[in-house]
Amino acid sequence: MMQAYIDQTADYVRKQLANAEAGHDWWHILRVWNNVKLLLQHETADRITCELAALLHDIADSKFHDGDETIGPQMAGEFLSKIGVEASTVQHVQNIIFNMSYKASLGDVTFYSKELEIVQDADRLDAMGAIGIARAFHYGGFKNRELYNPNIPPVAHHDKESYKNTTAPTLNHFYEKLLLLKDKMNTQAARTIAKQRHEFMEQFLSRFYDEWEGNN
Ligand code: ADP
Ligand code: NI
Repeated sequence: MMQAYIDQTADYVRKQLANAEAGHDWWHILRVWNNVKLLLQHETADRITCELAALLHDIADSKFHDGDETIGPQMAGEFLSKIGVEASTVQHVQNIIFNMSYKASLGDVTFYSKELEIVQDADRLDAMGAIGIARAFHYGGFKNRELYNPNIPPVAHHDKESYKNTTAPTLNHFYEKLLLLKDKMNTQAARTIAKQRHEFMEQFLSRFYDEWEGNN
């Protein structure tokens, strides 16, 4: 019964994201889902809620819906209700999706649960390490950003609007978000994985500057 909900949701998401851009496509969902399963081996939480939220968390990104941050939770809720998931679980999944993004964490946080912590960690891990680097440059290419510009220093984004509206080079995103993630993990298991991914990004940046300067 419960497993059937997960299978049906995975099928729905896979179809729904068939033409999604590569930073938020089915492969991202699969990686986050796998991260969730890994973290659940170390944490006590409701497995079904975590897996459903991981599967549905990027079903409709506000970036591609005129900034509407309610459309994702709404679509997720409609789907889960339709397949018969109980109302309290539907509500919980919606709360997780609405509150888990990095943007949301820069605004007023209105909801907290162990399940949110786990899914948020799983998603954040996928923005770090080799995959995180690939996703950042993919996003930068999509937005036609410069790779790096030594004349444009990184800035700290303290609010959602400045984070969303930046047009800075992709290297700046490392200082504005990616290198901050290791200290934002909620669970111990995610902190351990994040540490390794962080070190890899540091090595990448060091090589990047060496090559930029022509120091070989
Ligand atoms: P969230 O949905 O958690 O707010 P985003 O949608 O902002 O996160 O990020 C999704 C992916 O795109 C992440 O891998 C992130 O690092 C990358 N990304 C977001 N903004 C930028 C940017 N300005 N430059 C490069 N990559 C970015
Ligand atoms: Ni995501």
